[in-house]
Amino acid sequence: MSFGIHFAPPQASSVAGKVDTLFYAVLGFSAGLTLLLTGLIVFYAVKYRAGTSADRTGARGRSLPLEIGWTGASVAVAFIIFAWGAELFVYRDQPPTDALEIAGLGKQWMWTFRHAGGQREINELHVPAGKPVIVSLASQDVIHSFYVPAFRLKQDAVPGRTTHLWFIADKPGRYHLFCAEYCGTQHSEMGGWVTVMPPEEYTKWLAAQGQDESLAEGGARLFRALGCSGCHGPSSKVRAPDLTGIYGKPVALSNSQTVMADETYLRDSILQPAKQIAAGYDPIMPSFDGLINESELQMLVAYLKSLSASSPLRGEASQ
Ligand code: CUA
Repeated sequence: MSFGIHFAPPQASSVAGKVDTLFYAVLGFSAGLTLLLTGLIVFYAVKYRAGTSADRTGARGRSLPLEIGWTGASVAVAFIIFAWGAELFVYRDQPPTDALEIAGLGKQWMWTFRHAGGQREINELHVPAGKPVIVSLASQDVIHSFYVPAFRLKQDAVPGRTTHLWFIADKPGRYHLFCAEYCGTQHSEMGGWVTVMPPEEYTKWLAAQGQDESLAEGGARLFRALGCSGCHGPSSKVRAPDLTGIYGKPVALSNSQTVMADETYLRDSILQPAKQIAAGYDPIMPSFDGLINESELQMLVAYLKSLSASSPLRGEASQ
């Protein structure tokens, strides 16, 4: 039926089929409605064209049940589509806790990735099939958008914050990766390939890349090199909060509010320390804005997460 033309990319993630079902349902409904309305317009235009003997005596009254009926039906259809889409949206926003985490960084004009073991890739991303993978995204300059059509997933990488996208790639193969946000002259060339491998092959591939410093280990090194450990370390004389296990815990602030120590909080605390002061501490921490780049920030955040028992990175850091 497709005459050899590919109308849609292959479905290669756990969410792709769900997205397509919703898309084709909305498309089919719209097409049906368009055909019905167009048919009625043409039918009545022909029937009541000038000069026909069609009966024109009918009353032009209003029917309350009819008006309530079509208004109610339209609202119901709109809400069904909304609920369907919202359910899918929430699903694609809730990664499983055991997901493999890969740090992605967009910059003009390439994608770079770092696996938990420190292995780096440029414009290539290797992932295991059948396992949940989280790609945490940051941008070094402008807004980019990580887009893999075969996964039916797209997520912006926004300067100044970390965004996430997760997927279970269910079919081994090579799939196009694009930047889907105009980001300058070479935007159209910013892309590459996602290679989905059977888990055993992925493990072999990872091992063949050689052991590099892991993300969390790099963060630990920076934590000492930048002097963070001087204040936040256990033997420090300066009063600064101990960061062990802070990730994922609520933090009491000096303005009596409480925030969750998520990635955004850690990132903000490094770049804009005056924004949220932990209760009981003086606002003496200097900002590291401009002193460290996005990739170093990702390492520091990975290190801080590794200090927390609830983090999947813990095993990596203790090696
Ligand atoms: Cu990066 Cu477009």
